Amino acid sequence: MIKKLCKNPILSAHSFNVFYLSNVVIDCLPKNTLSKQQIDDLLTAAVVHDIGKTTWPESLFRKSKNLLTKADWDIIRAHPAIGANMLRETGRYSEETIRIVEQHHERPGGTGYPHKIEPDLPVIILAVCDIYSACVEFRKYRKKPLSHEEALCEVGRFAPLNLIQILSTTRPKIQKMEECIFHETCN
Ligand SMILES: [Fe+2]
Ligand SMILES: [Fe+2]
Repeated sequence: MIKKLCKNPILSAHSFNVFYLSNVVIDCLPKNTLSKQQIDDLLTAAVVHDIGKTTWPESLFRKSKNLLTKADWDIIRAHPAIGANMLRETGRYSEETIRIVEQHHERPGGTGYPHKIEPDLPVIILAVCDIYSACVEFRKYRKKPLSHEEALCEVGRFAPLNLIQILSTTRPKIQKMEECIFHETCN
């Protein structure tokens, strides 16, 4: 799985960023919010959450949102379930890690995909770290990454207040990561 990710520099850097950010957020949660097992499963999911994207054509990574066709959206919306199946086939990932991967684009009120179900805390944590990272990373389809404030706004569309506050208060740690790692994603 990791070899598949490493073949795509955008995906591998993004996966690392989401893993790092998930660690930062989990560290700031009140003690015993998640069990040790839940944390292990969540952090593993953070690394492989977009493994389903390794099946995408290269061109899809470079396409800006306003140019996506219906067929492109079908491929995009399928990646959580495809990723979950890929992980299941290896027999090496826990059912909880697979579940989080499958649900990482679900949103409160059933407004996400693919199943339009209510996400629980581990899923929301991964979703917050995923969207924040994607916003502040370099992408070929936009001139520059979003600022910290703009990224918080994007995350604020669905994230609970306590997670937004964590991202705000851990700004120095996140900023360090943005300076050294996120900028690696530009090529
Ligand atoms: Fe994703
Ligand atoms: Fe992602």
